Amino acid sequence: MTNQTIQTKSDAEKPALHIEGGYRLSGELTTNGAKNSALALMAATLLTTDECRLTNVPQLTDIRTMGAILEAIGVRYRQVEAHTVDIDARFLGTQRAPYELVNTLRASFFILGPILARHGIARIPLPGGCAIGARPVDLHVRGLVAMGADVTIEHGMVEARARKLVGARICLDFPSVGATETIMMAATLAEGETILENAAQEPEVVDLANFCSAMGAQIKGAGTKTIIIQGVKKLHGCEYRVIPDRVEIATFLAAAAITRSTLLIGPVLPEHLSAPLAKLKEMGMTITLVRPDTLEISPGSGLNATDIETLPFPGFPTDMQAPFMSVLSVAEGTSIISETVFENRLMHVPELNRLGADIRVRSGHAIVRGVPRLSGAPVVATDLRAAAALIIAGLAAQGTTTITGLHHLDRGYEAIEQKLQNLGARIQRLAPGSSFIAAPAVDCFSPSAGVAAGA
Ligand code: EPZ
Repeated sequence: MTNQTIQTKSDAEKPALHIEGGYRLSGELTTNGAKNSALALMAATLLTTDECRLTNVPQLTDIRTMGAILEAIGVRYRQVEAHTVDIDARFLGTQRAPYELVNTLRASFFILGPILARHGIARIPLPGGCAIGARPVDLHVRGLVAMGADVTIEHGMVEARARKLVGARICLDFPSVGATETIMMAATLAEGETILENAAQEPEVVDLANFCSAMGAQIKGAGTKTIIIQGVKKLHGCEYRVIPDRVEIATFLAAAAITRSTLLIGPVLPEHLSAPLAKLKEMGMTITLVRPDTLEISPGSGLNATDIETLPFPGFPTDMQAPFMSVLSVAEGTSIISETVFENRLMHVPELNRLGADIRVRSGHAIVRGVPRLSGAPVVATDLRAAAALIIAGLAAQGTTTITGLHHLDRGYEAIEQKLQNLGARIQRLAPGSSFIAAPAVDCFSPSAGVAAGA
């Protein structure tokens, strides 16, 4: 066994994932609850003075940060078990959420609507932009103003006041997930009816509507472009299970595709995955629903190029764009990937090119020319889904890939390296200063290995 130590000065200071590429995956994977639903549900618990219990909550940095933000504003937050939290907002105050926490978690802005609906005043720091874009909140604010709030933004602080919120007809310029969620939550306790048009239809919006309904809210039309909310006086606590994480599932489907593997993945709600499943079939994969909530993905004879345009749900999700770009980087032919939702969500391209991909960006479109094989190298994750894309590429790259920037990864994937190890991947997370003993380079995609070539 070659004892290869891979370390550069900078790697020595940072934890890194080391992946020995070329190994096929196999087995069955159980995925976690949806980060982007759990964060909104945690905000919605502020709408009631009763205790709520959320189950199937993933163990992620973002969830812990949101918990810390809730505690900072007087909420009792208790991790009951690994994936169960109790939240009691009876003592919710109007103190400001701490900037240093809000600044790291854009989803913290979701607490504005519920606090305003509960107390008539809410002050939270303006969330910063992030790697993938400016992430403005104008649609959230305009919705609350339409419901009678006065909102000022000064010195990086958003302050909203409303003696009482009144239902309104609101039409969003863009079907923003967050703005839809902010307005829907505020409207549950407003006086009268709110009609929200051009609403986001994402499954996480539906999950939030179902949670609020379980608390006694009157909501119709969630999952369509028009949501109608009848305000009620009070909401009560409840216990609620978060939906499966469709982005985590799609990430592992992409890992199966690039490594030419057959995997079982669940629990899934197939209707949450229509667009990515259609793309995987175009790429040559076979997808079967082997149980009502379990998918089997298996390789075809090759991996076909295809075009992807990210769109609001039910279009192809922007959160799956980077992982799918990794797969298309070794497809037969050229794929065009258009990111239309965020203005700066192609930062994984240079890092994929370091792994031997051939991708060019031209006015917001990535032209992905498939190559026969990627080759391992040290790379840096720039954001959450870029980190996932680099892992997927490393699984198929010849030799060793070293990935730093893992704080991005841990925001949205629970124990991803353990899950991949359990499926046969050669992947390790090494603390700073430790060395990685690379297994002998293999390429179980080569024809001599008796399996279909990777590309
Ligand atoms: C949610 O972000 C998700 N995050 C994102 O997931 C996801 O990519 C995004 O929806 C789109 O599906 C959470 O749910 C916590 P948007 P959100 O408001 O609500 C513009 C991940 O990787 N916009 O639908 O912030 C905005 O700039 C994360 O898990 C405004 O212009 O997304 C963007 O270009 C990343 N004004 C577009 O709309 C506003 O007031 C879509 O944003 C709000 C948004």
